[in-house]
Amino acid sequence: MKRREFLIQSSLAAITAIASHQLPSQSTPIYKQYKSYKSWKSSNIFLQGINAPVFEEVEINNLKTSGKVPEELQGMYLRNGPNPMFKPSSYNYPLEGDGMLHSINFNRGKVSYKNRWIQTRGLTYEMFEGQEITELKFKNYANTNIIGYGNKLLALYEIGLPYAIDNNLETVGEWDFNGQLEQSMTAHPKLDPKTGELHFYRYSFFNSPYLHYYIADKNGNIIRKTPINVSEPVMFHDMVITDNYAIFFHCPLVFNLQQAKEENQPFVWQPQAGTTVILVDRHNNDKKPIYLQTDAFWVWHFMNGFEENGKVIIDFVHYPKINMESHWQAILNNKSNLQRMTIDLKTQQIISESLDDHYVDFPTINNDKIGQAYSFGYAPYIDTELLSKRKIPNYFPSLIQYDLAKKTHKIHQFKPGCYGGEAAFIPSSKGESELDGYVVTFVYNENTNTSDFVIIDPRNFASEPIATVHLPVRVPGGFHGNWIPNM
Ligand SMILES: [Fe+2]
Repeated sequence: MKRREFLIQSSLAAITAIASHQLPSQSTPIYKQYKSYKSWKSSNIFLQGINAPVFEEVEINNLKTSGKVPEELQGMYLRNGPNPMFKPSSYNYPLEGDGMLHSINFNRGKVSYKNRWIQTRGLTYEMFEGQEITELKFKNYANTNIIGYGNKLLALYEIGLPYAIDNNLETVGEWDFNGQLEQSMTAHPKLDPKTGELHFYRYSFFNSPYLHYYIADKNGNIIRKTPINVSEPVMFHDMVITDNYAIFFHCPLVFNLQQAKEENQPFVWQPQAGTTVILVDRHNNDKKPIYLQTDAFWVWHFMNGFEENGKVIIDFVHYPKINMESHWQAILNNKSNLQRMTIDLKTQQIISESLDDHYVDFPTINNDKIGQAYSFGYAPYIDTELLSKRKIPNYFPSLIQYDLAKKTHKIHQFKPGCYGGEAAFIPSSKGESELDGYVVTFVYNENTNTSDFVIIDPRNFASEPIATVHLPVRVPGGFHGNWIPNM
């Protein structure tokens, strides 16, 4: 065939394909290895199996998908988690481990994956040395959460400043709100969907007052900073907002400097002190906080809070105590469940009730409902039988969808050998109801040692995912993630 004829025929074939809406067959993923680091193994249960770190940074375009990826998904799901680059001499989960970001990017029908370590200052020093530096044990790992705020991506770790990240997942550096934030910021700020304000706090171990509450406007300016008096320096991992209050649970996990130096364990559990619920007025800086005393318990994560008929309602994952041992039996013996605390603002009486008895954590909701009355929440399920068998935590065989109005739940069971993590809710742009959107999570498949990214229909929660993105690599179990829509 002559060159001219070939060109004409090729053009005609292309026009015919477009005219009859034929799409080119899905090509194989394009795998680009960016950097690879020396691998190692550990006997620590939080560095084994699903928790084991990965040692390659990659970018994979043209990912294979099954089902139908919703066209309206345009943006990036980002998840953070601990992934120590160098073998640690000791490991305190969940406080340690260099943060690694994993992203799934949806761009006009193409889906790609990328992972990058967050280049914190501490990690940079260690990379220069080529090994762990034990003096950096309490460094800012930036490993807990990643949020989109204003025009920034912020990787968060509660004992350090946020790290700004660019859209290519490259680390920009520490972000201190233009000099307005000192020392640290919680990894669980709350973005008020009504006002666009970011509500957050920082806690300190050394200087009283040990807690400071902040509000930043949608442009990144801190517009309020309120010191909160608390009796002792404790760890605060999460907070709740309602229309009128920012709420903190002062659980008795007390910082102890001596123990930090001697045993690498900076906290002591002191249940005799009980838990104090602190309600801070969101609108009046001069109003004194309300302090309410209750029995000791531990909370990592809140599901949500809201106000109704003179009452404040707070849903959270309740643990009888904190578990500080890196042993599977200790995790088995400290079973959590979803609970509701109702505070009567007039009588200041607290009523607690159990909402469900499944062992869960990492609760999430449709973030459009933060601080508002809501009905639906999501959490991965910790199967105690599986934990006893595996002796390694963080294998979540299913996700639970709670209907808190009807007090029922549905279970999305992953396929045999497949385990999910924290879910994120992506609201539909066309949506009006709390269920209009998509529930997504990474799922590790131990049969293939690779991971998938699943998209579940919240209205048919127990059914098969509506779409699955197949990765040729493994995404280790991690902490928290968020959907960052294209702007
Ligand atoms: Fe957390």
